[in-house]
Amino acid sequence: MKRVAKWLGLGALALVVMVAGLAGWSHWRFERALQQRIAVQDAPLPAATGAEALARGEYLFTTRGCSECHGERGEGKVFLDAPPLRAVASNLTPDGRGRHYDADAFGRAIRHGIAFDGRPLVHMPSRDYAELGDADTAALAAYLARLPADSNDPGTTAVHLPGRVLYALGQLPVIEAEHIDHRPRSRTEPAADDALAVGAYAARTCIGCHGETFRGGKVAGTPPEFPPASDLTAMPGWREADFLHLMREGKRPDGSEVHPLMPYAAFKRMTDAELGAMFRYFRSLPGPGAN
Ligand code: HEC
Ligand code: HEC
Repeated sequence: MKRVAKWLGLGALALVVMVAGLAGWSHWRFERALQQRIAVQDAPLPAATGAEALARGEYLFTTRGCSECHGERGEGKVFLDAPPLRAVASNLTPDGRGRHYDADAFGRAIRHGIAFDGRPLVHMPSRDYAELGDADTAALAAYLARLPADSNDPGTTAVHLPGRVLYALGQLPVIEAEHIDHRPRSRTEPAADDALAVGAYAARTCIGCHGETFRGGKVAGTPPEFPPASDLTAMPGWREADFLHLMREGKRPDGSEVHPLMPYAAFKRMTDAELGAMFRYFRSLPGPGAN
């Protein structure tokens, strides 16, 4: 009996040591990741002035998910408060973080996931924006620079121990800069009359959840009971109007509602033309729904 108790005690001790070791290692891994400095050498953005550029910037802000996380006026907010992490989208106005940014710094944050001071941003979905065109990025930056000052202080993003363990095990890729191609290159917008290219360009906004190939799957960091992101190459039997309806109302052709994890409200102001182009692009991909 005594021997069994001794072995059980030793087993429990070993377990405690292992758990503590994993926690310590994860904490250290994450802190080290935050301290890395990634060099970005994009050429300066083109100048974006005038009403047209600002209107384009506003369109991108309200259709690419920015306003969904950062707030309609860019004032910032807590958009996720869960055991792995508390995610706080920064106040982007001149009274908030915006005061540290010029156009090129905004560009590095948006397309590379790197803050003005070189720190990698946490849970800012820059992978989705990495291929945003130079003129579009400049227009978006010009719009951000014109946001009315707002003194709202939403606090800062914090990755808690469970999130750090998930990060260390490769299950929570919250430092998006680690997954972006930072080589300098110019990026151009698609020609307006090339529907497939326009669709492919807009669809980059979906890769964070639906994946690079749009085949869907479990969204990293979501609880087990959450549904996987759908396969966008499937949408069996859907027509363009069905897709527009889902993107605006969150309802499928059979009337069922999509799970709120699918942030359709962030995309519903996309124009019919842009949504239609995206649908045609998804249909052009190999997969169950290809025509
Ligand atoms: C899923 C939510 C989400 C979306 C969508 C999103 N952001 Fe962010 N963003 C964040 C979070 C969270 C941070 C703060 C990261 C940190 O503190 O490390 C952030 C940080 C930033 C920063 C750096 C500010 C700072 O604190 O230094 C800029 C600039 C920015 N976002 C612009 C944008 C723009 C422009 C868009 C749309 C193209 C956008 N974001 C879309 C969540 C989001
Ligand atoms: C934050 C994660 C997230 C982002 C970003 C996102 N989606 Fe989704 N989407 C989901 C999830 C999760 C589902 C599955 C919901 C369900 O099963 O109820 C879904 C479902 C869908 C569906 C329903 C498909 C079907 O067959 O039922 C469509 C269409 C869709 N998304 C399109 C898009 C498009 C287009 C974008 C980009 C403009 C996008 N989504 C961005 C998470 C996301």
